[in-house]
Amino acid sequence: MKAIVRSRPGKALSTMQVMDLPPPSLPADHLRIRVATSRINPVDVDLMKGMPFLKYKQPQIGGIDGAGEVLERGTATTGFQPGDRVFFYRHFTDMGTWAEEISVPANVVAKIPQHLELTDAGAVALPLLTAFESMQQFQGKTGQTILIHGGAGGVGFQAVQVAVALGLKVVATASAKDEKRLKTAGVAQCIDYKSQRFEQVLKPGAIDFIFDTVGKDTLLRSMLLRPKKVVSVHYADPALMHKTGMKVPGVLKLILKLANRKFTKAAKKEGVTLLGQVTGGNGKTLQKAADLAQKSGFIVGPYTTISIQDIAQQGLNGKSVGRIIVF
Ligand SMILES: NC(=O)c1ccc[n+]([C@@H]2O[C@H](COP(=O)([O-])OP(=O)(O)OC[C@H]3O[C@@H](n4cnc5c(N)ncnc54)[C@H](OP(=O)(O)O)[C@@H]3O)[C@@H](O)[C@H]2O)c1
Repeated sequence: MKAIVRSRPGKALSTMQVMDLPPPSLPADHLRIRVATSRINPVDVDLMKGMPFLKYKQPQIGGIDGAGEVLERGTATTGFQPGDRVFFYRHFTDMGTWAEEISVPANVVAKIPQHLELTDAGAVALPLLTAFESMQQFQGKTGQTILIHGGAGGVGFQAVQVAVALGLKVVATASAKDEKRLKTAGVAQCIDYKSQRFEQVLKPGAIDFIFDTVGKDTLLRSMLLRPKKVVSVHYADPALMHKTGMKVPGVLKLILKLANRKFTKAAKKEGVTLLGQVTGGNGKTLQKAADLAQKSGFIVGPYTTISIQDIAQQGLNGKSVGRIIVF
């Protein structure tokens, strides 16, 4: 079978190569899956470059989420049958989805919403899981207003739909080109981040909550609106890193804490509760997200695909991020 393999640590994704590998074995608690599609997520750049303290397999197949069809189930698994259409997000310590066939722990797998094609499901596994889990912080806040930064992106667009389903009033920052799609999904107000500064458009007190998928200056400026709570995917809380499967040593926890300090200080100054989001493989949560997506008819934002044959000829690079690999 063909797989996209990390040939050596290096810049962006340019070291990835298509190789022929033997099909995977099937431990008792795993499912063997024929992969249909997998997203090239921003995190793949860091994972393939080489994360300190992360042990890489030999050979190391790239990718961390995807969608496909169950071929065979391990003897200790329950709830899945051959032929089931599934999607999944794995742990950092167990990555590898960019292959025609993979073997995945059943506890990170969920059945995909019936209204989604396999290609769409592969485009949305990690984004939907991240959005759904982050939005749990805003359960029961019907009628209150949330600002979603990066509302048109992979994670942001799923978060918009979860927030609307939770009954929140949604304001989003995005490019002007995405306004129509966001309004159709239920966003009350769009702010074009390229021509406007959200903290000047919105008055302090107008926003109850913020979900941030952009980070840096956007996260810092968010505090000026004095929301009750900010959840950010760019605030790497050392206490949550275990969700990726990694055992983060004390020294790295300290580095993360220092890197977060400017955000923590700004939040404290404005009286804002700042929480980080770290997504880890979790089939139960992904299934809850999938059920909500099906009930509410979530859609997937536009994306471009790339075939494994194209990758064999052209390779991958930083510009490939966001594309969907079709196997
Ligand atoms: N912590 C976690 O567990 C976790 C999980 C998943 C993802 N993430 C992180 O979340 C981030 C988003 O991931 P993604 O897959 O959603 O990326 P993506 O699909 O590339 O989306 C990014 C979106 O942000 C928009 N954007 C860029 N700068 C902006 C700004 N200043 N203000 C408002 N919007 C802006 C982009 O719009 P334009 O294209 O129009 O510029 C794009 O729509 C990545 O950094 C990723 O690493 C973290």
